[in-house]
Amino acid sequence: MREANRIVANILDALGDAVAPGVPTMYFEELSRELCRNYKVRPAFLGYCGYPFVLCCSVNEQVVHGFPSERLLREGDIVSFDMGVIYDGFYGDAARTYPVGKVNGKAVELMRVTEASLYAGIEKVRQGIDVYEIGAAVQACVEAAGFSVVRRFVGHGIGRAMHEKPEVPNFRPGVGGMPLKAGMVVAVEPMVTEGTHEVDILEDRWTAVTRDRKLAAHFEHSVLVTTREPEILSVSERGLIKFFC
Ligand code: MF3
Ligand code: CO
Repeated sequence: MREANRIVANILDALGDAVAPGVPTMYFEELSRELCRNYKVRPAFLGYCGYPFVLCCSVNEQVVHGFPSERLLREGDIVSFDMGVIYDGFYGDAARTYPVGKVNGKAVELMRVTEASLYAGIEKVRQGIDVYEIGAAVQACVEAAGFSVVRRFVGHGIGRAMHEKPEVPNFRPGVGGMPLKAGMVVAVEPMVTEGTHEVDILEDRWTAVTRDRKLAAHFEHSVLVTTREPEILSVSERGLIKFFC
């Protein structure tokens, strides 16, 4: 699990380095494919429930599951990359949102709060806690800043499959989630919006966009549950980088 997630984080570093105005989003798909070959890992998303790409690339109002395309990134856009691999039968999964050139203050604030909410959720991860405590911490962080948490998609356990029990909502769905156990790995992945938390799915049947077409951001780490501090597994060879917070 460490190695799978380290590779995902390395790939995300490389994608981030290539973000610039004028780059077609399909370039990041090609780069991801090439890096999977180099690392000798299988991409986890390609073919998953029929998903047609290696990478999810979601721009601006696209929340998650955006398709790479001939669309060119423009100065002021924000772009989320979500990437997964399978290494020796184990899954890695992580996501980040990057600014394209200079972006406006509201966009930076959205990315900062989304990343901060991810770490607020991760801080709770430890043996014995109720999984819903993670989402409660994420939600508190996001709503204190005046933004909204997407309900339609949730984080998840991860291991020999990409999606294992338990679901990890980014909000508190009620009381009585399952207690975490040391050795489990959870993918914590807040999707945060400027306006409404409601999403629409586009005609392509995958791309999730905000219903009000305002901006969305997405950060994800795969995190090992222990009896003490959580261990973030999706850390690249550059080390853990906080981009905005
Ligand atoms: N990080 C997302 C998830 O955990 C990515 C899945 S995209 C899919 O669900 F295409 F593979 F479905
Ligand atoms: Co995930």
